[in-house]
Amino acid sequence: MTKQTLKHPYKGSKAQACANIALVKYWGKRNAELNLPAAGSLSLTLDKLRTTTSVQFDTALSEDEFYLDDERAPTKRLSPWLDLIRKRAGIQTRARVVSNNAFPTSSGLASSASAFAALALAGSDAAGLSLNKTELSELARRGSGSAARSIFPDFVEMHPGTLLDGSDCIATPIEQDEDWPLCMVIAIVGGGIKKSISSRDAMDHCAATSPLYQAWIDSVAPDIEVARTAISERDLPTLGDITEVSAMAMHAAAMASRPPVRYWQPGTLACLNVVSDLRQDGVSAYPTMDAGPHLKVLTTMSESQSVADALSALPDVSEVIISGPGPGASLIE
Ligand code: PMV
Repeated sequence: MTKQTLKHPYKGSKAQACANIALVKYWGKRNAELNLPAAGSLSLTLDKLRTTTSVQFDTALSEDEFYLDDERAPTKRLSPWLDLIRKRAGIQTRARVVSNNAFPTSSGLASSASAFAALALAGSDAAGLSLNKTELSELARRGSGSAARSIFPDFVEMHPGTLLDGSDCIATPIEQDEDWPLCMVIAIVGGGIKKSISSRDAMDHCAATSPLYQAWIDSVAPDIEVARTAISERDLPTLGDITEVSAMAMHAAAMASRPPVRYWQPGTLACLNVVSDLRQDGVSAYPTMDAGPHLKVLTTMSESQSVADALSALPDVSEVIISGPGPGASLIE
């Protein structure tokens, strides 16, 4: 037992965080060990996709324990990340981590962003650290690149930074004068089939083998610039155009890898056709995709139900979620 434990028994801490969807995608690293992205990204935090995580350091534990959605889960990715907190707090105590995803679906929507954001806050607090949001963003990034963005609410920009230690590789919120009632309609395609390859492995493979990778990386900073201006001017057609183009460019680079990385399913294409038709009919609907077959559509609150209805009518769409902008990570009682 460490001296610190005897003096200050650990309290348990609980935090929640929302997932986010990138409008300008992150796809590629400049440093794999520190998980530093090769370019920036820009996202919208989403209210409906929440993770709640509690962390308790406990001297009675001989190893870390992890329970995910009420089931014991492997700690292979968690323990090295908890070591970062232990090192910073000067402790060696193992932890019990209990995490639940309150996603309105069990379809395998990526949850690493909300998971590591909630963990960064609950874990650091439970270890007696009082980290500011920038430090939390950096810590969350070590678990998952997109998690750095989920520390903050609404629109968020991730900065790639230039420092070798990654201390300038953090996310910052994009301030808006007033709320912009946008939302994301998420169509679950393919009934939650398991990913063929994780985003982590796929982006490394893409960087190593795709002839389109460098062009993709070069396109990101100008796209972020345009997206930032579009947000400040509340210009949805421009923001939507960048959202669509960024996702297509990321997937094009991935598909040109050897062997190719293709997340698309027939239902994905059917959704994209529906979104094109909606746009031709004057609806503001702009698609994006991550490392999976699901389609996410940026739209307005007022048009979200018609977008959801059109996507729900497709046979390959098992569920549709409508989510507005969400809050940043916070501690809860
Ligand atoms: O956070 P990671 O390492 O799972 O990578 C996320 C990658 C994408 O979801 C495809 C894009 C993004 O910016 O979120």
